[in-house]
Amino acid sequence: MPEFPNPFSGKVPDRKLTDSELARAIRLNIAAELEAIHLYEAHADATDNALAAAVLRDVADEERVHVGEFQKLLKILLPDEQAKLDEGEEEVEELAAGEHEEEEGPAEEEETKEVPTIGDIRED
Ligand SMILES: [Fe+2]
Repeated sequence: MPEFPNPFSGKVPDRKLTDSELARAIRLNIAAELEAIHLYEAHADATDNALAAAVLRDVADEERVHVGEFQKLLKILLPDEQAKLDEGEEEVEELAAGEHEEEEGPAEEEETKEVPTIGDIRED
């Protein structure tokens, strides 16, 4: 969300970012792009104005390109980023192909543990 009321939101820090901090900042930038895509598409869906909807969808598509740019930058900054993305894709491919193992259901019925009540400790 925009932080326009915060006069320090765009303040440049007194030092340069480490690569680790930069990678986190890029992830934040990706999140901002994704939020913009969501917003523009929602606004396009919410109007009957054809020109406005076309402009909003066009800009949303441009934001998708920006996501790709930031994602590529992350892959350069983080050597294991591509491997993690590939791992996620493979997991979905396995699920899509029905190769996943059946999730184990709940453990076999546990013995019903009786919870003592006041009546249990009462001496007759
Ligand atoms: Fe953008």
